Amino acid sequence: MSDILTHIKARRSIRKFTDQPIEEGAITALLEAAMAAPSASNRQPWEFVVVTDADLLGRLRARLVLGRYRAPLAVCVCGNLHRTWPGSAQSFWVQDCSAAAQNILLASTGLGLGSVWVGVHPVRLFVRGVADVLNLPAHLVPLALIWVGHPAEGKPPRTQYDRRRVHWQRYGSAQEKLEDPDQGLSSAGGGL
Ligand SMILES: Cc1cc2nc3c(=O)[nH]c(=O)nc-3n(C[C@H](O)[C@H](O)[C@H](O)COP(=O)(O)O)c2cc1C
Repeated sequence: MSDILTHIKARRSIRKFTDQPIEEGAITALLEAAMAAPSASNRQPWEFVVVTDADLLGRLRARLVLGRYRAPLAVCVCGNLHRTWPGSAQSFWVQDCSAAAQNILLASTGLGLGSVWVGVHPVRLFVRGVADVLNLPAHLVPLALIWVGHPAEGKPPRTQYDRRRVHWQRYGSAQEKLEDPDQGLSSAGGGL
């Protein structure tokens, strides 16, 4: 238990990497972690595009203005719209694929690797750019591109725990105001 909590706090966005490639066994371990994630009704509406080709990595960098990192590996987590729920529940794919993406981040920390999540969906420009480079068919929506490599920077473990963001029983309860009078005064609805 303490081990998982340690890894959760140690996971930080790493944006500087060495040139050392990631060995295939580690890539498989990351994908196994990804596909251990929960998904709504276990539909597993995900596909993963693993990129190690230098030319493709460069083309991905060119299309992601907010995520131009030099890592030897990129894993693109995609939602497969042919595997989702019909109707309004279709959007569950975003949560399913996010759980898989987070597992990749945590697994990379556990393996001593660094990683960073670069958001793609729902920014149309990024979705088009990544889909173009990776030759994705229309039913595969790139959710995130995760850069992975051996870290060339370190960051301290942390939580960002803030008790004011925790609401017991019901939001804005009398108990909450007793514990934090400011919160009661500033809440938009005026409390009870
Ligand atoms: C949905 C999502 C999109 C993100 N997109 C980017 C991005 O485009 N570029 C980037 O450098 N970091 C991106 N990040 C990483 C966040 O900036 C980072 O998680 C946040 O600053 C907290 O820092 P930490 O990961 O070290 O805890 C993204 C994270 C998430 C969850």
